[in-house]
Parts: sequence; structure tokens; C-alpha cells
Amino acid sequence: MSARTDIVDEEGSDTKSSFKRNTPVAIKITKLDKSFRGNQVLRNLNMDVKPGETLVVIGKTGSGKSVLLRHIIGLEKPDSGEILINGMDVEDPEVRKKHRFAMVFQSSALFNSITVAENISLYLREHRVFQDENGIRQIVSNTLSIVGLEGKEDIMPSELSGGMKKRVAIARALAMNPDLILIDEPTSELDPMMARTIGDAILNLRKHVEVTQIVVTHDIDLAHYIADRIAVLDEGRIIEVGTPKEIDRSTNPIVRNFITTQFEREEGGTRL
Ligand SMILES: Nc1ncnc2c1ncn2[C@@H]1O[C@H](COP(=O)(O)OP(=O)(O)OP(=O)(O)O)[C@@H](O)[C@H]1O
Ligand SMILES: [Mg+2]
Repeated sequence: MSARTDIVDEEGSDTKSSFKRNTPVAIKITKLDKSFRGNQVLRNLNMDVKPGETLVVIGKTGSGKSVLLRHIIGLEKPDSGEILINGMDVEDPEVRKKHRFAMVFQSSALFNSITVAENISLYLREHRVFQDENGIRQIVSNTLSIVGLEGKEDIMPSELSGGMKKRVAIARALAMNPDLILIDEPTSELDPMMARTIGDAILNLRKHVEVTQIVVTHDIDLAHYIADRIAVLDEGRIIEVGTPKEIDRSTNPIVRNFITTQFEREEGGTRL
């Protein structure tokens, strides 16, 4: 089983913890529409995510990727359409009782006045998941090691590079033991080497935790590196979904254009 199970107790099996074992969720989005003051961002968008897969949504800047993630996590309300989490409407309060969602924001959004360990353990303390310091320390140390930042517990966020901040934000999400992780632009503003490290951290999650992951990015290299399937978002709808190889073979001119333009732009750079 996953390495996480040695720090995660079965529900009710131990007085030390109220952590539940996680169950990756399935997501079904049907005919999702969203406009902001007449600007239609999502139009008739359909998308399925399988439990436990890493689905990468790619699309140009401004194509609605972050708006889509905000709908899935329930921060944004659709004008029309439906988002089902394991068959239940995302707005149904029961969804939040049954499942934990974690979001890694485009900006990392760490608290600057507290250490890396405190950032990661905030959720555990607020929700009284672990009563004892040892349990908390172990989760912090395990999640940091999954993202390749062993021993960085006592560092302040201001001392971290952009890529390290992203990885701490991923560790913080992981510490919630989520059923769904949403990661917004993990490699934006990072150099190709750091992008590779982030890609490795995301891949490593899968070896340790069974979780459904949706990653949005305009980095086609990252998408190829980490995705089980890639969904291409254009003009507010998903125009193509497939494995990285299937997307490479796509004959859709918009998909082809997106892939080749990015490769040309990055020619000479380090590919993942
Ligand atoms: N709260 C909001 N109010 C009004 N317009 C919004 C709001 N949020 C997003 N938009 C608009 O929706 C469109 C899509 O934005 P979104 O942030 O989802 O793009 P994106 O694909 O994530 O882009 P990037 O790759 O730059 O992060 C943009 O035109 C944006 O201005
Ligand atoms: Mg965005």
C-alpha cells in the first residue's frame, strides 16, 4: 500500500487521529457555462476525470483554466450546467463531508510569517486531525520528502525560491490527505530545470498517494511529463482529450497549433 497509510489511521481505529483514508474521486462536468459581465469564459464545457488519474488541462493564457478549477473546488458558481463529484453535485454540502479537496493556487499562497512546517501543518491543527506533536511532525516530514524538500521544516517562505514555494504549497495540499488535488500553473515563471523538479514532485505524489489530480498549465512539456490524459481547453470548451501520445497525433488544427507554437517558442531550451 501507499507510504501514506503508515501515517494515516483507519477511521475510528485510533484515538490519536481522526484522519480518514483517502478515496480518489471521479468528476463529471456537463454543459458548464460561465460568464463575467457579458464575457463568456466557459461555454458548454464537458469533462470527465477518472478516479486516481492525473488529468492535465492545457490552454492559452486567459482561456479559462483557473476559472474551471475554481468551479470544481466550489469557489465559483456555474451559470448553468453540472459538476458531479462521485455522482453528487459539487454544491451539495454532503460532498465536503465525504471528501477533502486541496488546491494549490497559481500564487502558492503561503503564509509568510510562519515557517514551512507551520504552513504545512495548519490544516492538521485547525481541524484537530492529530492531537500529538509527533503525528504532525511525521506528516510534515513525509510530505516534504515527497516533494523533495527534506529537512526544510524551519525555513521561512521568504528564504525559498519560487519553485520551492510551489513544492511547499503542494506538500501543504498533500498534508490534508485529499481525495482530489487541484494544481494551478505549477511551473509558471520557473526555469526549465525547476519545472522538471516540480514535474518530478507531482509524479512522486502518485507513487505515495492514491489521489485524483487535475493540473492546469500552458506548459505542454509538463503536460506530457506528468499526465495520464491531457484535455485541451479552447474558447471555453474542451476540444480534445487523450493520452499525451493521442494529443501528439491530433489532427485538430487548434491542438496542433498549440503544441507546435509552444515547441517552437522553447526551441533551444531544456525540455523536460
Ligand atoms: N472574477 C472574475 N471576474 C471577471 N472576469 C474574470 C474573473 N475571473 C476570471 N475572469 C476572466 O475570465 C477569463 C479567463 O480567466 P482565467 O484566469 O481562468 O484564465 P487562465 O486560463 O487561467 O489564464 P492564465 O494562463 O493566464 O492563468 C479572463 O478573461 C479573465 O479576465
Ligand atoms: Mg490561470
